Amino acid sequence: MSTAPAPVSALSSLATPAALVDLDVMERNLERVAGYTREHGLRLRPHVKTHKAPQLATEQLRRGAAGVTVATAREAELMASVADDVLVAYPPVDPARTARLLALPANVRLAVALDSETSLRRLASAAAMAGRTVGVLVEVDLGMHRVGVQTPAAALALAQLARRLAGVEYRGVMFYPGHIRQHVSSQLPEIARLKQELDAFLAALAGRDLQPEIVSGGSTPTLFHSHLVPRQTEIRPGTYIFNDRTTAAIGACEWQDCAYSVLATVVSTAVPGQAVVDAGSKSLNREDIRGAVDAPGFGALLDRPEVFVKGLSEEHGLLDLSATDWRPEVGERVRIVPNHVCISVNLQPRVHGVRADLVERSWEVAARGWD
Ligand SMILES: Cc1ncc(COP(=O)(O)O)c(C=O)c1O
Repeated sequence: MSTAPAPVSALSSLATPAALVDLDVMERNLERVAGYTREHGLRLRPHVKTHKAPQLATEQLRRGAAGVTVATAREAELMASVADDVLVAYPPVDPARTARLLALPANVRLAVALDSETSLRRLASAAAMAGRTVGVLVEVDLGMHRVGVQTPAAALALAQLARRLAGVEYRGVMFYPGHIRQHVSSQLPEIARLKQELDAFLAALAGRDLQPEIVSGGSTPTLFHSHLVPRQTEIRPGTYIFNDRTTAAIGACEWQDCAYSVLATVVSTAVPGQAVVDAGSKSLNREDIRGAVDAPGFGALLDRPEVFVKGLSEEHGLLDLSATDWRPEVGERVRIVPNHVCISVNLQPRVHGVRADLVERSWEVAARGWD
């Protein structure tokens, strides 16, 4: 982990493209969610896939997070330097991945979510060989249809097996409501359905004395509805630390809650109706707005959200000027909020923390990649 020495410098001294985080906004986002989870008696276990930086996990833990969530072995390794409670929310099937997880420092309370007998048996035998006990959460599918067991009977079978095998310890269930991406104002029927399906899984487990100690759920789009699924014991939002254009479009944050942007320079205005900047798909990423909300393009200007990125080449971003009278000069700088912040962060070597026009500190995106 490297924390750059922090000589405060002017934003104008940065080369573009450069990833920026407005520290005031990020801190406000962290405080808001820490306050919400405290108020509702929920444990917060942020997913670090959004920032991939131990320094920012520390900021989350300092505000009361109970531990962290990771997807990759690299994230687990990097976060183990600052967190002693790590949930791997990804099935451990590849033996190399499992070996890296089992080699984490012994003080780390490790849990893993999985949905198959194969991954459970592999994990248990590797853990027993390593002399380690790993917590198991049975992942259940409550509508996302990505991973997760499909029926209470299947959840019961895995939980019972986890109870029997050496090397693992049954701790509870996990789900990810990533399918609920409509505007927050119309999420309630989906949240009610989620609650009902979760309750059916939990009733089956309780009936066989497999009452979960942990029920792990939550996402950024549904974050402030988490208390409406009261059997959850913890939530795992990731995006909320920075937010992005999708989160704002869904209504899970305001536009001014977007902490992350890519600083870019206008390099051409030669083609009428557009301006071209030096941030392309290799710094912004090409994901559409995800969810049942409509907004064209791949990102929008922080100061002028009506100006969106209508096209991307690898190193060119094409700004659509049809909804504005603003006509930028070549050389002018802009800040672009991407549709999906996690992918943009993963493309950056470093991120710069700014307040107003000053770069206060910078950090490496240390956990990006896999090695
Ligand atoms: C398993 C799991 N948990 C939690 C999250 C956090 O998601 P977000 O904050 O983006 O909703 C994700 C996101 O991909 C996930 O896959």
